[in-house]
Amino acid sequence: MATQSKKTAPKSAAKKAAKPVKGALSKKFMDMESKYGAKNYHPLPVVLTKSKGIYVWDVEGKKYFDFLSSYSAVNQGHNHPKIVKALKDQADRLSLTSRAFYNDALCEFEKYIHDYFGYDRVLPMNTGAEGVETALKLARRWGAVKKGIPNNKIKIICCNGNFHGRTVTVITMSNDPSSYENYGPLTPGFIRIPYNDVKALEKALEKHGKEVCAFLVEPIQGEAGIYVPDDGYLKKCYDLCHKHNVLLIADEVQTGIARTGKMLCSMHDGIRPDIVVLGKALGGGVLPVSACLADDDIMLNIKPGEHGSTFGGFPLAARVAVAALKVVKEEKLTQKAEKLGKIFREEIAKIKSPMIVGVRGRGLLNAVLTKPMKNGKTAWDLCIKMMENGLLAKPTHNTIIRFAPPLVITEAELRKAIAIIAKSIKEMEE
Ligand SMILES: Cc1ncc(COP(=O)(O)O)c(C=O)c1O
Repeated sequence: MATQSKKTAPKSAAKKAAKPVKGALSKKFMDMESKYGAKNYHPLPVVLTKSKGIYVWDVEGKKYFDFLSSYSAVNQGHNHPKIVKALKDQADRLSLTSRAFYNDALCEFEKYIHDYFGYDRVLPMNTGAEGVETALKLARRWGAVKKGIPNNKIKIICCNGNFHGRTVTVITMSNDPSSYENYGPLTPGFIRIPYNDVKALEKALEKHGKEVCAFLVEPIQGEAGIYVPDDGYLKKCYDLCHKHNVLLIADEVQTGIARTGKMLCSMHDGIRPDIVVLGKALGGGVLPVSACLADDDIMLNIKPGEHGSTFGGFPLAARVAVAALKVVKEEKLTQKAEKLGKIFREEIAKIKSPMIVGVRGRGLLNAVLTKPMKNGKTAWDLCIKMMENGLLAKPTHNTIIRFAPPLVITEAELRKAIAIIAKSIKEMEE
C-alpha cells in the first residue's frame, strides 16, 4: 500500500503548485500563511472566503463546487441555515460550562443521539482523533474490568492502511511512515493486520484472542484512498470478534452520518458495532464534535474523573450536533447519497482517458484512480485543472482523487460537476 501522507502532495506536484495560479489577493494570503504558519499541510493554491451549500468562493470572487466537503465534515452543506441558527441561538445564551456543572443542552443531545442510533450512552469529545482515543480507552478499560486481561497485556487489533487521526497513540497504529516517523516512543499494545482480510483477523484472534480487547476498523478506508472492503467483510469480522469475546470498534468518523448511503457505513453489512466513533459531520460543518456510542456494559466502566475534555459536549456542540443530525433525516441525505453516488460512478466510468484507471466508492464517498499521463501530468495537475474549471478536490497517495460533495447536492448540480471533471480530464491531454 502506498504510504503518502493524506494531506501532503507529491514532491513533484509541490514544485508545480508553487507557481502562483491565482491573483494578487490570493497570493497575499498564501504568502502570509507560508511565512507564519507551521508547514504541516500542502493545500491546493486557492484561498476561500465564503461558502453556501455545495459551493465555496475564493477571495477573488470565483465560485467552486466543493467536492471535498472538508473530508466529509460538511455532509449537510456549508452554513446550513438550521445548523447555523442552532449555533447562533445557543451562542447568545450559553456557550461553555465545562463538565463541572450540568447544562440544559448536553442532556438533550445525549437523549437525541441515543434515540437516533440506539446505543445506551454517548461520550462526547471534539475531534475525530479524540473520539478514537476515547474508543481505545473504553475498549482497554472493558478488557481489564470485564474480560479480565492483565493491564500490561491488553492488545488492540487494527488494520494496515488505517487512518484514525494524529495523536501519538493513534499514529502508533499507522503503517504510513509520514504519520509516525520520528514521533517515538510510540504506544505499545497494537497488532496490525491486512485490511479486508478475514483470515488474518481469524489468525490474530486465534493467536492472541485472550489478550485482545478490541478490533478497530474503518468500514471503508477513507484516507487510504476509499478502499471499499468486500461485501460481508465487517459481518465476518464481527462474528469472529464475538466468538473471541472481543469488541468491534467501527471508526465511522468519515463514513458515518449518511456519507456512504446509510446512516452508518457498517449498516451496509447489517452489523451493530460494539463501539461507534463519530466525528466530522456530527458537527454539521461548523464545530468539531465527536462522540463514542456504546452500551452500558462498555461505557459504565469509566467513572467520574477517569476521562474527559473541557469542551467535549459543550452546549454549542450539543445543539449543533442535534441540528446536524436532524437535517440528515429531514433532507433524506442517506437516500440522496445512495442514489447520487451510483450516478457519479456510472458517469465517471463512461469517461475514456488514458489517465483514468477506475472509480470506486460507496454513496457519495468516491475515488477516481488515475495514472500519470505520458506528458507527465498527474492527479495533482488534474486537481489544479478542475480548480481552474470551478471544482475543488484533492489527491491522496499521489494517484487517487477523492470526490465527496456535500450530500445536499442535487442530481442536476452533480451532473454539472461531472461535466467539469470530464472536461478537465480531457484537458490533461493537451
Ligand atoms: C476514519 C477517520 N478517523 C479519524 C479521523 C481523525 O479526525 P480528526 O481530523 O477530526 O481528528 C479521520 C480524519 O480524517 C478519519 O478519516
